[in-house]
Amino acid sequence: MARKLAAGNWKMHGASASLAEIEALAAEIGAPGVEVLICPPATLISRLADKTANTPIQIGGQDCHAAEMGAHTGDISAGMLADAGANHVILGHSERRTDHGETNATVNAKTEAAQAAGITAIVCIGETLAEREAGQTLDIVTSQLAGSVPDTSTAANLVIAYEPVWAIGTGLVPTNDQIAEVHSALRSALSDRFGSDFANAIPLLYGGSVKPGNAAEIFSVAHVDGALVGGASLKSSDFAPIVKALASS
Ligand code: PGA
Repeated sequence: MARKLAAGNWKMHGASASLAEIEALAAEIGAPGVEVLICPPATLISRLADKTANTPIQIGGQDCHAAEMGAHTGDISAGMLADAGANHVILGHSERRTDHGETNATVNAKTEAAQAAGITAIVCIGETLAEREAGQTLDIVTSQLAGSVPDTSTAANLVIAYEPVWAIGTGLVPTNDQIAEVHSALRSALSDRFGSDFANAIPLLYGGSVKPGNAAEIFSVAHVDGALVGGASLKSSDFAPIVKALASS
């Protein structure tokens, strides 16, 4: 069985005032019985890691460079994330694929770098609405999976997040059947490539408009081991019920 993970992606939100939000979240979730991760902007990683040191909340990054160090102004390496207190990093989010032209090859190289630095990579994949309407969803997500996941992956250093691009920040959510179809295709593809023990141990997260009101239903879908949550991770009053829904799923 894969570990259950509720991951929050703060995107470009959060400043010093968010330290109080993390304290509130820690108080609300107590000992949650599932893994809880917050990925704040890079500027907050170190302070949030300090704040959460004695809580079940883990801290992650939202991107890293593929190189260990060098002349890459504005970039951050996986080793730097680890040094700041992160143990996960989101890679290949659709916003990075769109805003920064990241390809599967870019994501693959970054994932390998993260894993080499001892960080677990959350590799994001997902189809656009046009691709879904053209009946290409399974082809797209399985080719993104094949291209973005490096051979260095182990059951401990890889998480996959299925995030339909059309569901991110829109309030639209796929049906349970649509989520189940993709997650089971991803599990099979991982099994074909790495074997069934590996495939069964990799958390498969769903992401895209997960809210307190729909989390329990999403977590009831086969092969859904957790969620990658954007907007509803910013406030503890929204994220804590999602964590609790996962714990009781
Ligand atoms: P959302 O974002 O929950 O705000 O839709 C999800 C994500 O982009 O990870």
